[in-house]
Amino acid sequence: MIKSGKDTIFASKLIKEGKLVAFPTETVYGLGANGFDAKAVARIFEAKKRPSFDPLILHISSIEELPTVFKKPISPMIMQLAEKYWPGPLTIVGPKTAKVPDIVTSGLKTVAVRMPRNKVALKMIKQAGVPVAAPSANLFGRLSPTTPEHVKEQLSTIDYLLEGGKTDIGLESTIVTVNGKTIEILRPGGISMDQLQQDFPGVNVVMSATEKHIQAPGQLRSHYSPRKPLYLHDSVPDKLPEYAALLLFEPHPIPEGAKSKIVLLSSTGDLTEAAANMFAVLHDLEDDPEVEQIYAVRVKEEGIGMAIMDRMKKAAYRYSHFVDDQGMVRDES
Ligand code: TXA
Ligand code: MG
Repeated sequence: MIKSGKDTIFASKLIKEGKLVAFPTETVYGLGANGFDAKAVARIFEAKKRPSFDPLILHISSIEELPTVFKKPISPMIMQLAEKYWPGPLTIVGPKTAKVPDIVTSGLKTVAVRMPRNKVALKMIKQAGVPVAAPSANLFGRLSPTTPEHVKEQLSTIDYLLEGGKTDIGLESTIVTVNGKTIEILRPGGISMDQLQQDFPGVNVVMSATEKHIQAPGQLRSHYSPRKPLYLHDSVPDKLPEYAALLLFEPHPIPEGAKSKIVLLSSTGDLTEAAANMFAVLHDLEDDPEVEQIYAVRVKEEGIGMAIMDRMKKAAYRYSHFVDDQGMVRDES
């Protein structure tokens, strides 16, 4: 059993000592360590069984800390993004300072930074007095944790779990980078492309071409997978057998005689509400002995629907292709 509680002072003390602390953010739980301590950061990879090519996000508690992690001069567009969305679910990738160890960025010259808006997280980071490097607090490739219980189920070798209830967004942050006058979205998330475009009129906002090269494992084609087959459908399938579950983000008519378990993530079709419950429901279905396979009905890829479908396609990919444990597609011929 891992030690858990609500003591931010204790948590920040552990961070300063180079220990591992799982903590809540408004998106998902993170697995944190002192972001300036390479050895502490290495322990994150061990605990998560994460391949070392995967760079981490540094979590800060005030914009004043930015110059310790981003190389000067910091681009005005980066500053505008930070001022607009922080604290909040936006991660910004920019050129790193020498102070940021290579293990945080997997050798990249850039580092990902965000200021979470969860009060418990902000308090802990502030008390620690260092940026906290943290990926999501799950085993690599598995479902992201949105409750303290999810963390306990997956991680047994951490030093402390700082509890903060269920996370409110339930979906990882949007990751962006700035190229000249363009904002490039590396991973869709809580802040949608439409919103960025609206808030930055005249600026070019583009989705990164996923397959360009693997910049981020969030960009691997298989990720966030439940350990059961998950199939995506355009509409509710005609046959809904026993020992299956149908996952709906918005209401749909259900055919008569359906034997599957039906899980509706938002009775009003509110996709933000559905996104907040998505990972928690997938965790439940993964553990449900009555469910052998999961069907899900697609949502429109716009607004938060883009982030939902990004996660669902990755969760389903494993079952339409041969994918190894690192999320890579294998050639089976
Ligand atoms: O909401 C979130 O972002 C959560 C909470 C805990 O903050 N964190 C999270 O971390 O989702 P993680 O490690 O699961 O995903 C971070 C993503 C990874 O896919 C990583 O590759 C990418 O950020 N990333 C980190 N540094 C990068 C860089 N320099 N360039 C491109 N991508 C980067
Ligand atoms: Mg993750």
